[in-house]
Amino acid sequence: MSARLRPMLEGDVVRAVAIERACFPTPWTSGMFVDELVQGASRQWFVADSPWGLVGYAGLMEADTEGHIMNLAVRPDARGRGLGTALLSRLLDVAAERGLRKLTLEVRPSNVEAIELYRKAGFRDVGRRPGYYSDSGEDALIMWTGDLSAHDARTIASTLAERASRALERFHLETSRADIEPQTHDGLILAIETSCDETAAAVLRDGRDVLSSVVASQVDFHSRFGGVVPEIASRKHTEAIVGVVDEALETAGVTLQELSAIAVTQGPGLVGALVVGVAYAKGLAAATGLPLVGVNHLEGHLFANVLADPTVTPPLVALLVSGGHTSLVHVPDWGDYHTLGSTLDDAAGEAFDKVAKALGLGYPGGPVLSKLAMEGDPAAIRFPRAMMHSGDYDFSLSGLKTAVITHIEAERAAGREIDLADLAASFQAAVIDVQVAKAVRAAKECGVTTFCLGGGVAANLALREALREALAAEGVRLSVPPFELCTDNAAMIAAAAHFRLWRGETIGPSAEAVPNLRIG
Ligand code: KG4
Ligand code: ZN
Repeated sequence: MSARLRPMLEGDVVRAVAIERACFPTPWTSGMFVDELVQGASRQWFVADSPWGLVGYAGLMEADTEGHIMNLAVRPDARGRGLGTALLSRLLDVAAERGLRKLTLEVRPSNVEAIELYRKAGFRDVGRRPGYYSDSGEDALIMWTGDLSAHDARTIASTLAERASRALERFHLETSRADIEPQTHDGLILAIETSCDETAAAVLRDGRDVLSSVVASQVDFHSRFGGVVPEIASRKHTEAIVGVVDEALETAGVTLQELSAIAVTQGPGLVGALVVGVAYAKGLAAATGLPLVGVNHLEGHLFANVLADPTVTPPLVALLVSGGHTSLVHVPDWGDYHTLGSTLDDAAGEAFDKVAKALGLGYPGGPVLSKLAMEGDPAAIRFPRAMMHSGDYDFSLSGLKTAVITHIEAERAAGREIDLADLAASFQAAVIDVQVAKAVRAAKECGVTTFCLGGGVAANLALREALREALAAEGVRLSVPPFELCTDNAAMIAAAAHFRLWRGETIGPSAEAVPNLRIG
């Protein structure tokens, strides 16, 4: 995920002051920033903006043919990634554009990081202003560039430019910014999810803080049919959606007018279910004039990991396993998804559901079978591990499902009682073995050290543990969302939408549900 430089706006001042307070003993006040911003062309202020909020800023004052750097700061948790270089390189570009002959600045001698940055940019020490900083009585070190007309600022800027643009392009933040960013009502996203049998809505602030997450499940209706009945799903979404969205807004204490965007799951999923959410979201966006963000459901399952643990950052590989999907995805950067492989027939969750149905255990099958499996022997029955050694990243689960069902029928025909726990454990082990083997190979081949698990089947404890152990042996860290974020919810959709919105990826009023939407 990248960061970008843009001119500072008045709306940035509150956040800039928060960064000042975290950086300097005598921070600038909001009044000082506003005074700068109203000066017009004699001042040039830029901010470094990212999906994690404002991460830095720098300002230049022009006086005749000289420029004075008024301030340059990088949020403490965003340091060491080249943002200071990027900001300084921008000021040098401005100096070149405006034909300035010299740049000057003052810095605390104790601020060695900053001094090093300025020296690299061609600034030299020219003297000291004794006792300049009132808080500590510390001197100010005065630094100047040489004659920029002789030693073109653009040359200096371009020597910094490559590092700066790389820094901006691949800017990641790995630590929490909770202590620094002030609470504001910016970045409020309402997300709606109706891709399968859960009607869900959530409100998130800044893609991180879940203000509300409401999930109305229809599982009790579908369970009597042993699976999701699409027509019922669609009708139930229509009945539930108004109440679910209202409850999400109410719990968050937010009105529609305070939101910054509406997000919705656009696909993949059941078409009749998706259209309900998409139509409702489009209606809200049209009524409020807010931007509308379309999210891929699988991307949502991936972002459940980020919601739970903000230190999760690409490059990573994700295994997304739900009732409808089983995909291994390589994620070199947010928004850049490469599907390495997926199921050629049944999804992992679907296999659990079908086996449970054959045993008369109801729907969904995952939770009941995994509970039974805890008491069983995974080696009791040897079920096939399809495509275990196929050399690719695809999966096939219908053969396993058939093998289990055939086994059940044969046992029944022979009049033998089926040990449900052994059967569940043996079936589960066959699913897990293949998933883990392919996951580990994908992590190794992609050279990542972070692996994310997502989707309803990620709630499976045995899968989590087997995966964690196998990946740890390769030095790869496994991230798994907490249980409530594994199954379908709208908080994960809002988290993914936050990043899409930041990249300017909105959809228009003619956008439609895409039942077979691909992640990449
Ligand atoms: O992600 P999700 O809520 O909905 C879809 O997008 O499909 O996933 C639901 C699926 C169901 O197939 C359910 O059986 C499965 O997740 N599931 C589990 C477990 N809990 C839910 N599968 C295996 N073990 C579990 N503990
Ligand atoms: Zn799902």
